[in-house]
Amino acid sequence: MHMTVIGTGYLGATHSACMAELGHEVLGVDVDSAKIDSLKSGVVPFFEPGLPEVLNRNLESGRLNFTTDYGEAAEFANVHFLGVGTPQRRGSYAADLTFVRAVIEDLVPLMKGNHTIFGKSTVPVGTAAQLQELADSLAGPDTNVEIAWNPEFLREGYAVTDTITPDRIVLGVNGGDSRAEEIAREVYAIPLSQETPFLVTDLPTAELVKVSANAFLATKISFINAVSEVCEAAGGDVTALADAIGYDDRIGRKFLGAGLGFGGGCLPKDIRAFMARAGELGADRALTFLREVDAVNMRRRERAVQLTRKLCGGDLLGHRVTVLGAAFKPNSDDVRDSPALSVAGSLSLAGAEVSVYDPQAMDNARKVFPTLNYSPTVEDALTGADVVVLATEWQQFRDLDPATTGELVRRRVIIDGRNVLPVDQWQAAGWDIQALGRNL
Ligand SMILES: NC(=O)c1ccc[n+]([C@@H]2O[C@H](COP(=O)([O-])OP(=O)(O)OC[C@H]3O[C@@H](n4cnc5c(N)ncnc54)[C@H](O)[C@@H]3O)[C@@H](O)[C@H]2O)c1
Repeated sequence: MHMTVIGTGYLGATHSACMAELGHEVLGVDVDSAKIDSLKSGVVPFFEPGLPEVLNRNLESGRLNFTTDYGEAAEFANVHFLGVGTPQRRGSYAADLTFVRAVIEDLVPLMKGNHTIFGKSTVPVGTAAQLQELADSLAGPDTNVEIAWNPEFLREGYAVTDTITPDRIVLGVNGGDSRAEEIAREVYAIPLSQETPFLVTDLPTAELVKVSANAFLATKISFINAVSEVCEAAGGDVTALADAIGYDDRIGRKFLGAGLGFGGGCLPKDIRAFMARAGELGADRALTFLREVDAVNMRRRERAVQLTRKLCGGDLLGHRVTVLGAAFKPNSDDVRDSPALSVAGSLSLAGAEVSVYDPQAMDNARKVFPTLNYSPTVEDALTGADVVVLATEWQQFRDLDPATTGELVRRRVIIDGRNVLPVDQWQAAGWDIQALGRNL
């Protein structure tokens, strides 16, 4: 099949390359010409394991191409995926739909014949219906444009696998004479042949599935972090507690990792946009608990700063702190709303001399927080540290040898902000190891 993917960021670049990998002819479209040039030359402009190989294989096969030209996109295919950003609107909790609307405004007037646009961006419920109205008002006399919603569930770090073998495919359609289901069955023929669950719903349900999934995950993380606060007050151990409750398969251990909490380009903005939209719909009380989920999450960052200050004798001024990690999670170079970078920034603003090291996210971190010291190696970052804060659980940091690390620092003091280090081994090497939610 011929298809375009509009917006080639984390979602769209992955979707373009993976649809070509499934055998389709794909044209990726973006307004950012530097991004398009990079993708055309086989360079993925962000870190995503396995994606460079899929991109290059499909560029070489000729099935994958990229452009900034909407005219070319309207001619190339009758099936389009929309994957542009929906960031938090400035000064509000709501999602900014400027980019999503711009795609419809720029693309639809160029279309001829029957087209189907599958929205993949995460949007407030009701957006697809509004975009359908907009498309209808812009379509020429012989043109019919259907908007369907096909939310994306990929996880950064596992984006290729999640796109090629998704754990479910959700499609929202407008009922009536929709052709979207038939087209989607052809697009996803390979995963569907492998018994991937395929759920066809109305438009509002499909839009709500995505934000509900993210709200649930955020709530699960903040639940354990709220319990973590109580463990700190009462002298309990949150990791042992999470293990114990996680054995109940109604609860499950996944997403019960207490620590610095969630960040990134999705969960924080998605729960806020969900609350804002519920408010607009008059159902704000239904989601007021998400405000607390957000607050618990933010308090963990403050707690890490407070603990570092305490370990520096009450004053951060002049103390050297090493922050291990800048990405919001391992296996990603995404620093959007990153807890690690937020902690590093707060420590620096409070007077600490902060050195940051991340295996992949240094360039992105430098753009967001240019005033921090970025060390070329983990050893360099650790040298002379008074306190080390493990803020992103990269395997490289989990594998640090406590004895050799101890040779580099000035004081053997570490905060495990992700509860991933083997405490016994660090203590045996003479470290004062502290962790969120545990009394060590
Ligand atoms: N990143 C993820 O893991 C993930 C997972 C699931 C869903 N999502 C959702 O997918 C959407 C995109 O997220 P992302 O992380 O890929 O964002 P991103 O910022 O990496 O990418 C967005 C891209 O859209 C492009 N763009 C903006 N306006 C455009 C226009 N008018 N025409 C063409 N391109 C345009 C930008 O240049 C950018 O390359 C968001 O709604 C997000 O919530 C993201």
